[in-house]
This record gives sequence, structure tokens and C-alpha cells, in this order.
Amino acid sequence: NIQELRDRFGRVHNYLRISLIEKCNLRCSYCMPAEGIALSPKATIMSAEEVLEFARIFVGLGVDKIRLTGGEPLLRKDISVILEGLSRMPVEISITTNGLLIDRHVDNLKKFGVKKINFSLDTLKESRFQEITRRSGFQKTLDNFELLQEDFDLKINAVLIKGTNEDEIVDFVNLTRDYEVSVRFIEFMPFDGNRWDRSKMVSEQEILDHLSARFGSAQIASLPNEKNFTARKFQVAGYKGTFGIISSVTNPFCGTCNRIRLTANGRIKNCLFSNHEIDLLSAMRAGEDVEKLILESILNKKALRAGMDSMEKLSDPALHSDNRSMIAIGG
Ligand code: GTP
Ligand code: 5AD
Ligand code: SF4
Repeated sequence: NIQELRDRFGRVHNYLRISLIEKCNLRCSYCMPAEGIALSPKATIMSAEEVLEFARIFVGLGVDKIRLTGGEPLLRKDISVILEGLSRMPVEISITTNGLLIDRHVDNLKKFGVKKINFSLDTLKESRFQEITRRSGFQKTLDNFELLQEDFDLKINAVLIKGTNEDEIVDFVNLTRDYEVSVRFIEFMPFDGNRWDRSKMVSEQEILDHLSARFGSAQIASLPNEKNFTARKFQVAGYKGTFGIISSVTNPFCGTCNRIRLTANGRIKNCLFSNHEIDLLSAMRAGEDVEKLILESILNKKALRAGMDSMEKLSDPALHSDNRSMIAIGG
């Protein structure tokens, strides 16, 4: 009997990220190609009951943190059924969203005990929002962010792209002066169809250099790493909030990885960068031993980025185009 999901490197996987849907109401270029992606057939997408059955199985294997992702998870018509079911399990529920539909769901999020919400927001300028997301909705996003201020732990995720929004690093950090928010800058990562190029990425070092020049390096404190961190955290002296940098490309944090992913079509991915997926949903529908497959996936986990352990490998389009588009992984 398996009680915890320990891999060959001793990493215990207690954090499950469930993608609920492959669709999104935005079209961010770093996440999906302009022409969209081929969606999985509807019959192969997990139902709410199947999502909850998987959650129960993973909780039985030691998972105590579940994050709902997408596409945009709040587009799921049955999101409240899923939240309600999860709220009965001994697990912390969090969600990563673009925020556009938050006003319609805020009551349910509260009711079912969601405390932590990560907001994807890459710009503080309206015209640029349109450029990046290929859709409108900037003001709505800000209003919804405001709406959550009091009752939730909020993080902002901003993917930085050279020539697009790198000039807003200071503006984002300035938000942390008065808001108890954590802003996290994310290095642009390569996935199928997102036209990744090393030269478009703003690195952790570049972000820190830029902020040191603006605030003075003595004013920026480096905070201790959390146990299974994705972001290295910092704080400007006297500011209420913090900022972080998620440097999957230049300074990966795989040594303490505790994350497993379940895609909307029920496949387990043992790493964000792994294209070796196992179809748990078909196995579950066929009455097969799902726990065994989960353990098999964990035991196949590589030490670093699914084997993309050098910049050369990461930069090889042939390697990252084997993986899904981010919209169908969920981050
Ligand atoms: P917290 O639980 O609040 O720390 O959130 P999180 O960082 O685990 O999740 P979120 O959905 O907010 O993801 C933010 C960014 O971190 C996204 O760009 C993700 O792709 C990236 N990220 C999250 N988990 C991993 C991971 O296991 N590996 C890598 N390389 N990146 C990750
Ligand atoms: N590189 C880095 N982060 C990305 N995200 C989506 N695509 C990419 C990418 N190519 C982020 C989103 C969201 C999180 C779940 O993943 O901005 O905040
Ligand atoms: Fe874990 Fe893979 Fe992310 Fe590294 S790149 S932290 S191994 S999911």
C-alpha cells in the first residue's frame, strides 16, 4: 500500500494541480498560439465526479494541497460542485485564475473555504492588456482584484516578456507598498506554440538588477525560501507586500519539487516540462489500478525539469514542442 508519493530523489509529492478545462476567455500569446489549440474531445474531459474521485485518491496518497487551474478554471459550469466536494476533504484548496469571472464566483469561493487565489495579471496598462491577452477586460480584472482584497490571500503572477512589459517591473513592485499582496515575476518558459525564445525572457538576475538600481540594493531584503517554493521572495524595506521571482529557466527549484499535475483530460504529468503522460482517466473508467499508475509516474520523475537540464535542451524547439501548450497544462 502506498501512503505517500515519494520519488527516487526523496521528494514527497503532496501538492496536486488539477486543470479543470482547456478553454480560456483570454488568448495570452505566451500561453497559447493565436489559432488556438485542438481541444480534447468532450468525452475525454473529466466530469466533476471524476475530478473528485481523483482528488480522493490523491488525498489518500498524502496530497494535502490542491490547486485548480485551467485554461480558466472558473469557466467550468460545475465549478461549485467541484469546490463543494473538495471542501469536504482534508485538503487546502487554491485556485489560479485570470480573475475575469471572480465577481460571479466570489461567494462560492468563500463558502467552500478557498483562501488563496493567484491572479494572472501581466500589465497594469489597459492598452497593453489588450495586446497581451488579445481580449478586453482590464478594468474588470482590476475591480475583481479589489473585491478579493479583504478575504483572501492574493498573489499576482506576471510573466515578463522583453519588449512587452519589462518596463512595468517597478510599477508592480510599487503595488506592494500599500497592498499586502505578493507579486511574482515569472520567467517566460517554452511550451508548444508559444514562440519562446531565450532573448524574449527577462531573467531573475535582470529583474533583481533593475530593482536594485531603482530602490537601492540595501533596501531589498531577500526573505527565506518557503519549504516547497516556486518563487524566491523579496521585500522592499517598509513595504506591506512582497515580490517574488519564479525562475524556472535560469535558476530552477526542482530540488524541492512537490508538485504533480492532472490535466483536464485526466492525464498525470510528473513535471511541467514532461510529455510522458499517463492516461489515468481511461484507467479509472476501465476499473484499473490508478494508484499503481500514479506511483509509476512519480517514480519516473527526473531530477531537473523532466530532463531539460540545460539551456540547450530547453531552447530546442523539437523538445518543447512535444509538450502541451500551457493552456492545456495549467501552469
Ligand atoms: P503557490 O501555491 O501560491 O506558491 O502557487 P504556485 O506558484 O504553486 O502556482 P501558480 O499557479 O500561481 O503558478 C505560478 C507560476 O509558477 C506559473 O508560471 C507556473 O507555471 C509556475 N510553476 C508552478 N509550479 C511549478 C513547477 O512545479 N515547476 C515550474 N517550473 N514552474 C511552476
Ligand atoms: N511561461 C511562464 N509562465 C506562464 N504562464 C502561462 N504560460 C507561461 C509561460 N509560457 C503562467 C500564467 C499563470 C500561470 C498559471 O502560468 O501567467 O499565471
Ligand atoms: Fe518540479 Fe518539473 Fe517544475 Fe522542476 S520543472 S519544479 S521537477 S514540475
